[in-house]
Amino acid sequence: MAQHLALSLLLIASLLFRTHARPHMGENPMIHMITEELHELDYSLLKVVGHTRHALDFARFAHRYGKKYNSANEIRRRFHIFAENLEMIKETNSNGLTYTLGINEFADLTWQEFRGHRLGAAQNCSATKGTHKLTDTPLPDSIDWRKTGIVSPVKDQGSCGSCWTFSTTGALEAAYTQATKKGISLSEQQLVDCAMAFNNFGCNGGLPSQAFEYIKYNGGLETEESYPYLGKDGVCKFNNENVGAKVANSVNITLGAEDELKHAVGTVRPVSIAFQVVADFRFYKGGVYTSKTCGSTPMLDLQEG
Ligand SMILES: *[C@@H]1O[C@H](CO)[C@@H](O)[C@H](O)[C@H]1NC(C)=O
Ligand SMILES: *[C@@H]1O[C@H](CO)[C@@H](O)[C@H](O)[C@H]1NC(C)=O
Repeated sequence: MAQHLALSLLLIASLLFRTHARPHMGENPMIHMITEELHELDYSLLKVVGHTRHALDFARFAHRYGKKYNSANEIRRRFHIFAENLEMIKETNSNGLTYTLGINEFADLTWQEFRGHRLGAAQNCSATKGTHKLTDTPLPDSIDWRKTGIVSPVKDQGSCGSCWTFSTTGALEAAYTQATKKGISLSEQQLVDCAMAFNNFGCNGGLPSQAFEYIKYNGGLETEESYPYLGKDGVCKFNNENVGAKVANSVNITLGAEDELKHAVGTVRPVSIAFQVVADFRFYKGGVYTSKTCGSTPMLDLQEG
């Protein structure tokens, strides 16, 4: 109780300090603004974590992403993790790198938790030797396929290591729209449920190259609408009548061959790629990402499109 009072006083003191700095503002708009903002936040959170700057950041974060915690202990634990992640993000951003990190919905998770919920098991990349042919076609300096309208909207994989399915549908949707001029959304859940025979493991991971092989041999992939995403492993319910797209052929790019990747992206269309996700990547915000810890062997922790 005494501690709570002290924290409230601290808050009031900081509010006073802020108004003091603006003595000419008639009705204390700053106090109004800050209390307004706090009213929207979950007061029970602040009771537990206090009113430090990190605590207010945490309350804002929890509000923004609709976080619900079950107990005071859980709140303290999530706050502690959040504060550590926040420090790591600030520290990284202060180094003037080619990319920046930012707080997102994963900021109250440890790296171990994120790995468990999102990445699935490490995959042994089987498409190490590609057949993509380089040509003399001049490459553009830059290309943003979103501007051509063939890139479908972002989807959310939820708590299932199914990134490989989204990478696959994203590439296939772009190829379909490029060829037909029509938009389409294709089924990730069908890949989660049905592509096991091609060395994929549903929510436990898989590889786009193997998913393309599955679609090719299966005779197509259903639409999102006919086979909607559930974000958990299920029984295969493929129905031939609802096929939205087929794969005649796919081309692999040689492991680590950036010239092949650049050529394919620059001259063909968006491609599905796989790379190892290391701890700081989960807070990627913008820029050109690089990593000293990311590996380049065929064993991958995650593949994204
Ligand atoms: C990955 O697959 C390759 C080729 O099949 C095999 O030689 C290698 O031992 C596998 N590595 C692991 C860690 O499973
Ligand atoms: C691409 O790699 C997959 C394994 O990931 C393999 O099954 C498939 O045959 C390869 N495709 C081509 C066209 O080489």
